Amino acid sequence: MSEEIFKKVVSHAKEYGFVFPSSEIYDGLGAVYDYGQNGVELKNNLRQYWWKAMVQMHENIVGIDAAIFMHPKTWKASGHIDGFSDPMIDNKDSKKRYRADQLLEDKITKYEKEGKTNKADELQAALDKVTLDNDLAGFKSLIEQYEIACPISGTRNWTDVRQFNLMFSTEMGAMAEDADKIYLRPETAQGIFVNFLNVQKTGRMKIPFGIAQTGKAFRNEIIARQFIMRMREFEQMEMQFFVRPGTQKQWYEYWKETRIKWHKKLGLGDNNYRFHNHVKMAHYADDAVDIEFNYPFGFKELEGIHSRTDFDLKNHQELSGKKMQYFDAELDENGKAYGNYIPYVVETSVGLDRLFLSVLCASYKEEEVGEGDKIDTRVVLSLPAILAPYKVAIFPLTKKDGLPEVARKIIDELKFDYNCFYEEKDAIGKRYRRQDALGTPFCITVDHESLENQTVTIRYRDTMVQERIPIAKIREILASEVNWSKLLA
Ligand code: GAP
Repeated sequence: MSEEIFKKVVSHAKEYGFVFPSSEIYDGLGAVYDYGQNGVELKNNLRQYWWKAMVQMHENIVGIDAAIFMHPKTWKASGHIDGFSDPMIDNKDSKKRYRADQLLEDKITKYEKEGKTNKADELQAALDKVTLDNDLAGFKSLIEQYEIACPISGTRNWTDVRQFNLMFSTEMGAMAEDADKIYLRPETAQGIFVNFLNVQKTGRMKIPFGIAQTGKAFRNEIIARQFIMRMREFEQMEMQFFVRPGTQKQWYEYWKETRIKWHKKLGLGDNNYRFHNHVKMAHYADDAVDIEFNYPFGFKELEGIHSRTDFDLKNHQELSGKKMQYFDAELDENGKAYGNYIPYVVETSVGLDRLFLSVLCASYKEEEVGEGDKIDTRVVLSLPAILAPYKVAIFPLTKKDGLPEVARKIIDELKFDYNCFYEEKDAIGKRYRRQDALGTPFCITVDHESLENQTVTIRYRDTMVQERIPIAKIREILASEVNWSKLLA
């Protein structure tokens, strides 16, 4: 995958109704995107894949849907008011603002591309150290030492490095003077922590158990780029797994393995995933790892797995004055009940937009088809059938002779179970190509022979093979190819 392909993926996403810049008629809004008619289907399917794997497949994990607005004390307890910030630096000539660590990471990538691995390693080690120490002056001196210039002005006229809180705030209440400052949640996890007791008690959950949630999160990212990779409004799919203190390491390992297997099942290539251990932990974690994906612009974080200790529940207990404890009646090796404790938490957190981007990039293919002087390029999205926006497209070969009626009848039978696409315009080859570009795994064509013997042709997206089958067999083929067990089993 190359940067060149990435540009093509971005324009494909727009041309085929997957992703549009937000408020595009007003020239867009920085790092905010809308999902179009095909994007929303793919995104919903990816969310379902996660939900089924986490909630449906685990008896001890249940879901919730908490509000985006939360009591402001939540963010004091979680540490986000005091500690959720990035080091930023401004270029005095271009007036552009950058993340200091990002400028240094870009330099490392440049060294790697130029084959200067020693330089890359040396800078990486220095970056790790200043990151770990949260050494703002250290970031600045590395930027100076490695002669990093502003990509816009080309100058090295930098301000000092400062911390910048990433939370968006707004006001609640009708009158500005009565208003209370509240925040748009920067992570969905806190909605789970504050509901820990509600769910545990009403669901009679026994440790270890998990609470899962998907939903929007908001971060005022200083530098937003690479399309939907780093957005200011994005969606997270998070699960907090509540465990007995002392067992967190074992569960952390369990979730690392379980989550990477889940990603690999998508069939995007096992080598496209790797673990990256954190050197600098988030303020709440005692162990943390990223699952990185090999995007066209390099390996980058796709999912985070964090051992969050009892940090969040303990702080919520302190600030709210409500006991966040669990009574564990099971017996330890000495035959004594474990009794009351604040559970430890292992969290898995994947960005739905980043997952979407990984799937889009790895399934986008340009293939040469045809022979001799009739060679042509087709663009195909080789998505797993269950994730494709449309599972089947149904085309009458012509608009007359009763063929549309037969096609519509087939759709009427399938549409309760499968998302179907109907099209009668254009040459059949053109229609096939459009479905390839959307990732539709099957195209059914109704022709004149269909009227005589109740058969249709089915064309398979990946092989482009066409075969004639009885109409009665369509369901059988779809049922065997389009089902969740292929991903979940
Ligand atoms: N509750 C833990 C947490 O929020 P995180 O590593 O900050 O941890 C988890 O975020 C995941 O959310 C990331 O791995 C990434 O996939 C996604 N994510 C974070 N910031 C994002 C952004 N600005 N745009 C898109 N996705 C983002």
